[in-house]
Amino acid sequence: MTNLRQLFREHVAQTSDSPLMLEISKAQGVFLFGPKGEKYFDLISGISVSNVGHGNPEVVSAVQGQAADYMHLMVYGEFVQKPQVELAAELVRLLPQQLYSVYFVNSGSEAVEGALKLAKRHTGRAEIIAYKNAYHGSTHGALSIMGFEEQKRNFRPLLPDISFLTFNNKDELDRITTKTACVVIEPIQGEAGIRIPDVEYIRALRDRCSETGALLIFDEIQTGMGRTGTLFAFEQFGIIPDILLLAKALGGGMPLGAFISSKAIMDSLTQNPILGHITTFGGHPVSCAAALASLKYLQSNNLVQTVNAKGKIFVDVLKNHPKVLEIRQAGLMIAVELGSYDRVKALIDFGLAHGFIVDWFLFCNTAVRIAPPLTITEEECRTAAGLILEGLNSIS
Ligand SMILES: Cc1ncc(COP(=O)(O)O)c(C=O)c1O
Repeated sequence: MTNLRQLFREHVAQTSDSPLMLEISKAQGVFLFGPKGEKYFDLISGISVSNVGHGNPEVVSAVQGQAADYMHLMVYGEFVQKPQVELAAELVRLLPQQLYSVYFVNSGSEAVEGALKLAKRHTGRAEIIAYKNAYHGSTHGALSIMGFEEQKRNFRPLLPDISFLTFNNKDELDRITTKTACVVIEPIQGEAGIRIPDVEYIRALRDRCSETGALLIFDEIQTGMGRTGTLFAFEQFGIIPDILLLAKALGGGMPLGAFISSKAIMDSLTQNPILGHITTFGGHPVSCAAALASLKYLQSNNLVQTVNAKGKIFVDVLKNHPKVLEIRQAGLMIAVELGSYDRVKALIDFGLAHGFIVDWFLFCNTAVRIAPPLTITEEECRTAAGLILEGLNSIS
């Protein structure tokens, strides 16, 4: 039989000429296993998805149960499907009152696309403001608000009327005006290498959006579902966005995204034209059942409350190493700055040979990403951090 790796190279579309080519035959908890029994600490959660751990029995059982009851029935928003309804109700119960209506999609990029349309439709304005070094996905709208020219240059033309602000620069906030439909921001920039804005900046941004009527869209696709130590990162800034975007860990390992707003805002998609946004598979019942089980698991195990202490273990073990220039961290969303791509690459390779998986960031290849499942135990954090330390000692 032709080798799986060979077929992978030939028939699965490649977006890099040097894919990791790691073959995994089983994943359980915080570990991935290769076909020959190789065992790896998963310190990236592929990426920031597997918050409740791989093979979580409650999620698996919800998936199996729902698949047996029914899978696809009808495009989103027409039939009353129990897993969708229950998940929406549970999300809304956990969110502030303004965030009341949930539109389910399949992915993060689609949540971004839906939210941009919603903001334009609701405000009747065209201008969109985003941030330098922001990552919001790879589809055309999401790419248009990406704050990294190198990745978008060769895909132009993109959406018009977009401008980019600098994180933490309050002087630029007056560029948000009554012409602005929305401002899209990651409350903590992920692919920029974990960049955390000041609380005062985010509050000033909220005020400026309220003054001008621009909708504030928080992309919590990477920060959501407990990763930063609260269920949603916006809670740490003492503000409420107008539209909240979720995906990645939302589905408990299944593909699912959502954009969430007040009912008044969301209802803009129901008239002129009707069916202002539709999707065939968005809010798939099996994904919603997995998401609900995952959300319940997070809560019944008080997992979110454990995240800061676990993140601190990594920081404490690694921060004094001479090769570590800086650690940027929010809960279990961690960037270890090594100042050079060669060192990052060497540490990744060391990890593959010594049983752990780390990664770099799309727009920051000088820092190592650590983002394990939130189910990792404190003991496992110490072991994993110790392995990284060994790696730092052995690379040049
Ligand atoms: C902050 C943020 N927004 C949007 C996306 C896009 O999500 P997806 O890959 O599911 O389309 C990502 C993915 O990495 C992300 O990190």
